[in-house]
Amino acid sequence: MPPVSAGRLPRVLRAAAAPARRSLSTTLSARADGVTQYTLHADGKVEHAVKGTRLDVPLTREQAGEQTHLTAAGVDAYLTRKLAAPDFAADPALARGLARADEAGLPRIAVTAQLGQFLAVLTKAVRAERVLEIGTLGGYSTAFFAKALPRTGQIDTIEYSPAHARVAQANFLDLDLFPFPTVHVGPALDLLRDPAGVFARPPGELDPGYDLVFVDANKDEYFEYFVEALRLTKSGGVIVFDNAIRGGRIAVPDGAEVASDATGLRKIFDWIEEDAGKTVLSAAIQTVGDKSWDGFAIVYKN
Ligand SMILES: C[S@@+](CC[C@H](N)C(=O)[O-])C[C@H]1O[C@@H](n2cnc3c(N)ncnc32)[C@H](O)[C@@H]1O
Repeated sequence: MPPVSAGRLPRVLRAAAAPARRSLSTTLSARADGVTQYTLHADGKVEHAVKGTRLDVPLTREQAGEQTHLTAAGVDAYLTRKLAAPDFAADPALARGLARADEAGLPRIAVTAQLGQFLAVLTKAVRAERVLEIGTLGGYSTAFFAKALPRTGQIDTIEYSPAHARVAQANFLDLDLFPFPTVHVGPALDLLRDPAGVFARPPGELDPGYDLVFVDANKDEYFEYFVEALRLTKSGGVIVFDNAIRGGRIAVPDGAEVASDATGLRKIFDWIEEDAGKTVLSAAIQTVGDKSWDGFAIVYKN
C-alpha cells in the first residue's frame, strides 16, 4: 500500500503520525466511499486501505471496537454533549423524568435528545403558539414543545395509557413547565373524532387551528391521524410524523407485503403523491442515531 503523507490525514492521525511515534496502531476512518483502515508503522510510515464495506450505515459496536464515534449511538452522544442546551436537553429535570419513566416500567421509546431539541427548534422557527401531540408516553417530547412555546402558548397531548399519562403529569410538575401541557387520556382516534369533544371544532376564523402537530403513537393508525391532523392544523402549519422510515420497511417494492408499522405511512405517502402539491408540501428525512435507522416526515399544509 502506498504511504500517505501526514498532511492529508485527519487531525487525530496527524498527531499520531508526529515524530517519536514508536508503537504500531490501526485506526478506522469513515468516509462516504467506505471505511479506510490506517496503519501506523514504527518507522513512521502510514498505510491505508479502503475496505470494501461502503459506509451506508454506521459501524456496529463490534466493528468499531474502541472507535465508538463511528457508531450512530456514539455520534449521538457526542452531539448531545456539544449541543444540549441548559434549558432544553440538558435540563436535569428531563433526566429525572426519564428515570421516573423507567421506574414506572414505561418502554424506552421516547424521542432522542437530538430529535427533542430539533422539535424545539422547529417550534420556535415556525413561531408556534399551539401544538398538538399524539403519543405522550412520559412527556419527554412534550417537554421540548412546552419549553419552546411562548408563555401564552398551548400544548395538548394525547395518551392512551393512564399509567403513562400519570408519569407524564409528574414529569411536567417536576419540570415546572409553562405553558403546562394538557394531557387528554384515551384512544387518540376516539378523542380526535368525538363530536362532543375538544377536538371536534374544525379550525375557523376565531380558531385557525394548530401551528404544529407531532404524531408519535400507534403506527398502524398513522393515516387516520394524518386525516385528523390535516383537519386540525392551520393553513401554514406543519405536521411531523416520527418513525417514518422503520429501518427501510417503508420502501418495500409495490406489490410486496408491507409491515403493519409501515402501512399507515405508505398510505400517507400515496395520498401525498396523489395530492401532487395541492394541499401539502412534504419531505421525509432518514436518520440514524441512538435509536438506529428510522426518520421523520414533515408535512406543510398549504
Ligand atoms: C413512542 S411513544 C411516544 C413517545 C413520546 N412522544 C416521546 O418522545 O417522549 C407512543 C405513545 O403512544 C401511546 N399510544 C399508542 N397507541 C395510542 C392510541 N391509539 N391513542 C393514544 N395513544 C397511544 C403509547 O401508549 C405510548 O405512550
